Amino acid sequence: MVVPESQDTMYYPPSDLQKDAHVADFSSYLALYRKSLENPEAFWKEIADKFFWKKPATGPVLQYNFDVKQGSIYVKCMDGAKTNMCYNVLDRHVMEGNLGEKVAYYWEGNSPDHHMTITYRQLLSQVCRCANVLKQMGVKKGDRVSIYLPMIPELVYTMLACARIGAIHSVVFAGFSSESLCERIMDAQSCVLVTADGVYRGEKLINLKQIADEALEKCRENASSSVTKCLVIKHHALRTKSGATCNKLQTPWDSECDIWWDEVMRDSPEECEPEWLDAEDPLFILYTSGSTGKPKGVLHTIAGYLLYTSLTFKYVFDHHHDDVYWCTADIGWITGHSYITYGPLANGATSVLFEGIPVHPHVGRFWEIIEKYKVTKFYTAPTAIRLLMKYGREPLQKYDLSSLRILGTVGEPINPEAWQWYHGVVGQGRCPVVDTFWQTETGGHVLTPLPAATPLKPGSATFPFFGVEPTILNEHGEELEGEAEGYLVFRRPWPGIMRTVFQNHERFENTYFKKFPGFYVTGDGCRRDKDGYYWITGRIDDMLNVSGHLMSTAEVEAALTVHQAVAEAAVVSRPHKVKGECLYCFVTLKHSREFNRTLVDELKRLVRERIGPIATPDFIQNAPALPKTRSGKIMRRILRQIARNEKDMGDLSTLADPKVVEVLFSHRCEAAP
Ligand code: WT7
Repeated sequence: MVVPESQDTMYYPPSDLQKDAHVADFSSYLALYRKSLENPEAFWKEIADKFFWKKPATGPVLQYNFDVKQGSIYVKCMDGAKTNMCYNVLDRHVMEGNLGEKVAYYWEGNSPDHHMTITYRQLLSQVCRCANVLKQMGVKKGDRVSIYLPMIPELVYTMLACARIGAIHSVVFAGFSSESLCERIMDAQSCVLVTADGVYRGEKLINLKQIADEALEKCRENASSSVTKCLVIKHHALRTKSGATCNKLQTPWDSECDIWWDEVMRDSPEECEPEWLDAEDPLFILYTSGSTGKPKGVLHTIAGYLLYTSLTFKYVFDHHHDDVYWCTADIGWITGHSYITYGPLANGATSVLFEGIPVHPHVGRFWEIIEKYKVTKFYTAPTAIRLLMKYGREPLQKYDLSSLRILGTVGEPINPEAWQWYHGVVGQGRCPVVDTFWQTETGGHVLTPLPAATPLKPGSATFPFFGVEPTILNEHGEELEGEAEGYLVFRRPWPGIMRTVFQNHERFENTYFKKFPGFYVTGDGCRRDKDGYYWITGRIDDMLNVSGHLMSTAEVEAALTVHQAVAEAAVVSRPHKVKGECLYCFVTLKHSREFNRTLVDELKRLVRERIGPIATPDFIQNAPALPKTRSGKIMRRILRQIARNEKDMGDLSTLADPKVVEVLFSHRCEAAP
């Protein structure tokens, strides 16, 4: 592979960024990439040497079996070494790095009136106190602690306190229902639940403690009452000046089980010796939904996750000491674990920790925060970009965004219109957009540009990160060379890959390693273009076969969103007598645009023009809103059922707003117009 030059529109790294970048040009990327594959031992040893090991590793940095035919799947990183995650991301900076007074987090609340600055020293002290509290409550190494908290600093304190004493945290996104929380507590068999009394999300007050209690009650009904103590944080935004909780909230209380955080933290000592743990001891469990069955408890371990999240953070955001970095994700998802908590802290970075939503109290909230903290690196999701695009340029023009240097995106393929808007309007054409492809399972970025090295093509996650060896397989498991489209798989592990599904290694092997022995199967479709760029085409189950042509729904969606009137589009397949499958499209229009026959014709023509006659949609329906999970992912299963007129919808509990389903049925297209 040479430095890419292509017929496609390419965006080259700005030279000012290249001046002091960690990886400053494409040939440096290639050289390092080659080293990482040809001599992984030397490559990862050098990274590991930057961290603290109480006892050194006894074998090679990375050991593994990736082939089910050779026996059980395993990955080990720094096997035999003793270390502690919390020590490496906090004490190391305060004790050895002189970063005690550096800001770790600027916390910005749901309301602009609530904000707070936390230095590395303060963070360490809070974490140690919390660690002592957990110990006092009887939490020991290997125990699971479920954390059901909004984006407040105590969420980070609790995670790191677990890491300090060797407890395994299981963070459950605070937007999940009591059923989902109960299911996750039961699977993890947690002994402690940490929650808050309540939280404002936008205008809405949510009684978290009540939901947590309902979850615990459901666990008891299922004869599964592993949780013996519930630690409850008083959300400071809900307190009156005198310290009492505002009267809008009734906090249910069980004095047998419940403990106020403030009361136990007050007298808790600030010193807590870290527990020296095995490199391969578990760090956390994070649940991710599977295409079938109950959520999977994805398990990550200490050393590999430390090496991988710290290195990807450093290179993908080209981290420098004076950066102010902001990732808008919720810590309840892997993006927050890896790129709000562990990756940034491992690098001694300064981050914004944001509790609110993009449109409260106004639609310029993101831009206001970027201006306020002079954010240099900004990481968000395509769904947020498309939401904010709807309001046009005006909300951005009120703020100074000149501090921005790098923009990142994650979570789904980004359509070219959203990419262009992000790059041109948010980044004012100055900032590379790093489109980072990864999964809960991968622990960190696996396909991604490096901002000062990789020429960008909008919509492509470009090339593999160090240590990652992707390949594309066809249906028969044959490797495809050159330009190709098929299943995205990885041929070998990198340090941060998941180790197992919690207490279900068989499910781990079946889900990721059985289909194509010798490879980790992502479940995503992927295309490699003539220049070697990787393009994620969407989940394999979003692929459809129209008249013998394999097609990705993402491609069609990207074409639809090119239209001026379209804010968002989602495409699913519907069985078709002649073609096998055909395209059924849901489109959400921008403010004040009208859905009519002319528009439908224009959209069909647009898709035909962009992709070809084979992709001409058979159905286009108006979708005032799309069915999304609380993390903003479109639930295509539901759209497929609507398209097929299947009325039995099954479990809708993971939907952010279940009412959407009814609305969509009322706009359904019966037959092709
Ligand atoms: C799935 C993983 C990893 C953090 C957030 C999601 C899709 C993720 C991209 C991207 C295209 C992407 C894939 C993947 N995805 N990033 N840059 N381009 N698709 O974590 O919930 O585990 O979801 O998200 O389909 O498999 P997750």
